[in-house]
Amino acid sequence: MGRAKDRARAIRDARRFSQRYGFTPPPAWAGMSRYETLLDEILECGLLDVPGDFVEIGAFLGGGSYKLASLLKRAPEKCLFVLDVFDPAFDKTECDSGLRMRDVYDQ
Ligand SMILES: C[S@@+](CC[C@H](N)C(=O)[O-])C[C@H]1O[C@@H](n2cnc3c(N)ncnc32)[C@H](O)[C@@H]1O
Repeated sequence: MGRAKDRARAIRDARRFSQRYGFTPPPAWAGMSRYETLLDEILECGLLDVPGDFVEIGAFLGGGSYKLASLLKRAPEKCLFVLDVFDPAFDKTECDSGLRMRDVYDQ
């Protein structure tokens, strides 16, 4: 029952995302961060009208990159440059709780 509820919630959330941004969300496994906050800032601050391109540092599996690139279709003259070292062991960040980013990437 819990899994069916989770699935139904995921379908509802995907539909809301599509309605809000005009493109379907990437699969859940492709993103770690809630880029919706970033997309909203870009739209609310009119950043698509500001001259220049966009750079994303840290793509990981590309879910956020896909969201940014899809939003940038509204400003086709802009480029999105995506950088990553693509080496899970490179990031030595450790949270106060002891959680290590490289372990998160490994999972
Ligand atoms: C938290 S993940 C990014 C998650 C991604 N933006 C998303 O929405 O799913 C951080 C990424 O930054 C990359 N990274 C860490 N340090 C970096 C550096 N100095 N230069 C480029 N990429 C870096 C790591 O390889 C990792 O893929």
